[in-house]
Amino acid sequence: MSKFNFIAKSQGANQGVLKGDIRVPGDKSISHRSIMFGSLAEGTSHVSGFLEGQDALATLNAFTAMGVNIEGPVDGKVTIHGVGMQGLKAPSHALDMGNSGTSIRLLSGLLAGQGFEVEMTGDESLSKRPMKRVTDPLRLMNVQVNTGEGGTPPLTIKASDKPLTAIHYDLPMASAQVKSCVLLAGLYADGRTSITEPAPTRDHTERMLEAFGYPVEVNGSTRAVVGGGQLKAADIDIPSDISSAAFFMVAASIVEGSDVIIRHVGMNPTRIGIINILRDMGANLDILSESKIGGEPVADIRVQGAKLKGIHIDEKDVPLAIDEFPVLFIAAAAATGKTVLTGAEELRVKESDRIQVMAEGLITLGVNAEPTKDGIIIQGFGGTEQNMGGGEVESHHDHRISMSFAVASLIADDEIVIKGVDNVATSFPNFLSLANGVGFDLEIINA
Ligand code: S3P
Repeated sequence: MSKFNFIAKSQGANQGVLKGDIRVPGDKSISHRSIMFGSLAEGTSHVSGFLEGQDALATLNAFTAMGVNIEGPVDGKVTIHGVGMQGLKAPSHALDMGNSGTSIRLLSGLLAGQGFEVEMTGDESLSKRPMKRVTDPLRLMNVQVNTGEGGTPPLTIKASDKPLTAIHYDLPMASAQVKSCVLLAGLYADGRTSITEPAPTRDHTERMLEAFGYPVEVNGSTRAVVGGGQLKAADIDIPSDISSAAFFMVAASIVEGSDVIIRHVGMNPTRIGIINILRDMGANLDILSESKIGGEPVADIRVQGAKLKGIHIDEKDVPLAIDEFPVLFIAAAAATGKTVLTGAEELRVKESDRIQVMAEGLITLGVNAEPTKDGIIIQGFGGTEQNMGGGEVESHHDHRISMSFAVASLIADDEIVIKGVDNVATSFPNFLSLANGVGFDLEIINA
């Protein structure tokens, strides 16, 4: 496997301002779900704005392997000829989910109801991630499922001709993937399946089920579906991914004089933690042209440079910004004073241990960063004579770590070499060209 590194040239000395008007790729979470529901619907669904990144393509390839005729993606457009709730065919080989936790966890729920045996595998990072969080509730629903040692992938769902048992499940952690897994298995269960979540998490599953004509009961923090219904084809226009926009929100915020507009960004209330946290830190963000497409709010976001200050991050924003912490740690390093994150132990089981990996990289660059059990404490450089230094940091093949340290180069005094950036293509294939287009100085080398 080839291994690419980013050489992120220092911008610290000349503080080149960022200017531009950009659109980042489609939302990853929504892209996955559009393929899943389009495949199981009656009729033909048209998707636009689909993320042509490896994670969403892993989901697409899985459904093609199960007999679904899917055209595209071409320029973000995908046409899915749905086969109905019972129309999938057993794949002839194990389904390779690559780096994608969303694919394996949501599909484990959906495939539990298909009546055929299926094995799902993943890359080195996915093969270390916990699956017990989905196998526990699935076993309560009478699904026979095997995992690798320690409850990690590969994951094998056994064939069964018995309907799944409807359950109520109190989620032990705030996780949209676990919530979705149980609700999707619930589509195939006998009766009403419900979950209660400890804190609000992204609700794209609920919104898109409704868009495909499948009712979801919403009552406080409880969501429920009644098994045995049908999905009807729908046309889905996918907004740009706020998690990808986040890199540019932080980048423009930390470089004085910057002014960047990011178009057509998904503004689902369960995803806007990054905006709340950056605003608490004093960022200058304007939300423009708000509208709604396909059941999801969207807007353009204008970001101008600002003097950020360190804060104690409100724990209610943690699940709403769960994928944005690596880049928020860069904002914290640029801010004046101390930033404290608590209640974020979930970051330790993402594509990498994002608390540890970010702390190590930040320390290499001279930042005072102290990892804690459930978060981190970062002492910002803002208002001091000091600046971020350069050095070599490991991404641990985690896309969001790679892009976060690229953002750090904007305020670093020396070049940062970011090792192992191949996985940027899982969520943001054109990151390098968009970043260089607004004023970054990134080079990719085959190491
Ligand atoms: C996702 C849910 C989140 C997020 C992941 C995508 C989804 O994970 O980190 O990148 O599409 O449902 P958890 O639900 O495990 O927090």
